Amino acid sequence: MLFRCCLPLHLHLPFTLLCLLMRPLGLNALSLTLKDSNNATCLYAQWKMNFTIEYETANNGLKNVTIQVPSSASFSGSDCGTEENVPQIAVQFGSGFFWSVNFTRAISTYFIDFISFSYDTSDNATFPDAKEKGKIYTAFAVNDIEVPLDQLFKCCSLLMTKEGNVIHSYWDVLVQAFVQKNTISTKEYVCGKDRLLSTVLATTSSPVPLPTAKPIPKEKPHPGTYSVKNGSCICLLATMGLQLNITKNKGTSLKNLNPNTTDYDGVCLKESALLWLNDSNLGFLELLFAIKNGNRFYLKGVNVSLTFVNGSDFVAVNNNLNCWDAPIGSSYMCIKEDSIPVSDTFQINTFDLRVQPFNVVEGKYSTAQECFADSDLNFLIPIAVGVALGFLIILVFISYIIGRRKSHTGYQSV
Ligand SMILES: *[C@@H]1O[C@H](CO)[C@@H](O)[C@H](O)[C@H]1NC(C)=O
Ligand SMILES: *[C@@H]1O[C@H](CO)[C@@H](O)[C@H](O)[C@H]1NC(C)=O
Ligand SMILES: *[C@@H]1O[C@H](CO)[C@@H](O)[C@H](O)[C@H]1NC(C)=O
Ligand SMILES: *[C@@H]1O[C@H](CO)[C@@H](O)[C@H](O)[C@H]1NC(C)=O
Ligand SMILES: *[C@@H]1O[C@H](CO)[C@@H](O)[C@H](O)[C@H]1NC(C)=O
Ligand SMILES: *[C@@H]1O[C@H](CO)[C@@H](O)[C@H](O)[C@H]1NC(C)=O
Ligand SMILES: *[C@@H]1O[C@H](CO)[C@@H](O)[C@H](O)[C@H]1NC(C)=O
Ligand SMILES: *[C@@H]1O[C@H](CO)[C@@H](O)[C@H](O)[C@H]1NC(C)=O
Ligand SMILES: *[C@@H]1O[C@H](CO)[C@@H](O)[C@H](O)[C@H]1NC(C)=O
Ligand SMILES: *[C@@H]1O[C@H](CO)[C@@H](O)[C@H](O)[C@H]1NC(C)=O
Ligand SMILES: *[C@@H]1O[C@H](CO)[C@@H](O)[C@H](O)[C@H]1NC(C)=O
Repeated sequence: MLFRCCLPLHLHLPFTLLCLLMRPLGLNALSLTLKDSNNATCLYAQWKMNFTIEYETANNGLKNVTIQVPSSASFSGSDCGTEENVPQIAVQFGSGFFWSVNFTRAISTYFIDFISFSYDTSDNATFPDAKEKGKIYTAFAVNDIEVPLDQLFKCCSLLMTKEGNVIHSYWDVLVQAFVQKNTISTKEYVCGKDRLLSTVLATTSSPVPLPTAKPIPKEKPHPGTYSVKNGSCICLLATMGLQLNITKNKGTSLKNLNPNTTDYDGVCLKESALLWLNDSNLGFLELLFAIKNGNRFYLKGVNVSLTFVNGSDFVAVNNNLNCWDAPIGSSYMCIKEDSIPVSDTFQINTFDLRVQPFNVVEGKYSTAQECFADSDLNFLIPIAVGVALGFLIILVFISYIIGRRKSHTGYQSV
């Protein structure tokens, strides 16, 4: 049964064909394309589902009934989402069945968020002899389906879950919410179960182990160079690749700042300096540098306001940082990955970093002070551990020799 649906991914067959191949008796699929007020496609979905409801009868105990969704089902209530509402798909059918799913968006991903299902046991045709007549409403959070923005979620496998008295079954699912530029994406985000199956299928046909369903590691951000002038001279220099790590809803999303779409500016004052970065796709970051003890500089504050959908939806401020500490007159450098802990839900990962917020001479960086991650001391740690281990082995060996000699002498004296 497990092998009914999915073939290895490299067999690029059209989706319906691919799924049908393995399920000859498919029901009619539900299919929906929603348009927004500008007539642009905002949501697309095609899927199959049925429900098994267990209910109590007046005199025969519990009874199961399976509900198929007829092709005459209505999608009224489905919508693209507005300022106040998230997008949702609503399906109404039979007498009193109502199903809906809604979607929420994070910076670079979206979630299939909540599913609700309600039915009415006063429908005598479906629930004959039901003990209690009336509407029953259930809803649950889907939780673990996070799809990259601008990708089509695809799942041939059967996804089953029991909520209250209802077993939900979903299969042959294709869905994309927050469709970008009026175009349904050709990039597919394949569900974990399908990936697992395709790996199993592929590995049984070839001895080469294939990658499992691990998330693809996020690529490193490209470093950008930012400079701020006071009059005609450069007073602040920064070169860095920045990656934003946002924890929102139940997921973490990583977003790389793209220097090509980033505007920047700043100011240099006597005791502080500011660098503003404004990535047109992501939002606004402010870095505040300050001086301590009159002779060192450091990164004191970060203030971000990230935009998605409309307006600023994510803000984080921390003015008590103590990062990138180096003597004035030098620059601070950290080539390896490091991170700035801005808040519980937000950190900035830095790569190929070099900054000099004060005393820039002739528009060039001064001598660099390197971070710990880059320094040679870092190499010494494994060496020190190695030496300690070696020493321990020698100690054990010596005590073994001594032990042997003692027992030898013991034998001799007998
Ligand atoms: C939306 O597009 C369809 C087909 O392209 C067209 O028939 C319809 O008139 C358009 N509606 C609006 C409001 O522009
Ligand atoms: C409901 O769907 C599941 C999953 O495909 C299937 O196993 C089951 O037989 C279906 N029930 C009916 C009555 O069609
Ligand atoms: C209804 O179906 C569920 C799942 O298949 C099963 O556990 C339960 O015992 C069934 N109930 C009845 C009354 O048949
Ligand atoms: C999504 O749907 C659930 C269940 O219908 C509802 O409780 C929740 O408020 C909805 N979420 C949003 C953001 O509207
Ligand atoms: C269902 O049956 C009950 C009694 O068996 C009756 O009172 C009720 O009106 C019926 N409901 C509908 C919607 O026909
Ligand atoms: C992102 O932040 C979360 C929460 O702080 C953390 O668990 C995770 O390791 C971070 N990921 C990266 C790649 O920085
Ligand atoms: C930025 O633009 C350059 C040249 O146009 C290109 O080579 C580079 O890949 C772009 N970087 C990113 C992150 O898009
Ligand atoms: C900026 O330029 C002005 C005028 O040339 C100068 O007085 C001031 O000290 C400069 N500030 C910094 C931080 O270099
Ligand atoms: C960031 O840039 C956008 C245009 O790309 C602009 O509308 C917005 O006002 C800028 N934000 C800040 C804080 O400078
Ligand atoms: C953060 O930046 C925003 C936009 O520039 C500004 O309105 C706000 O006052 C700043 N907050 C702090 C604490 O610096
Ligand atoms: C963004 O919000 C403003 C004011 O709340 C509104 O006028 C504008 O139409 C919204 N833009 C989009 C794309 O929803």
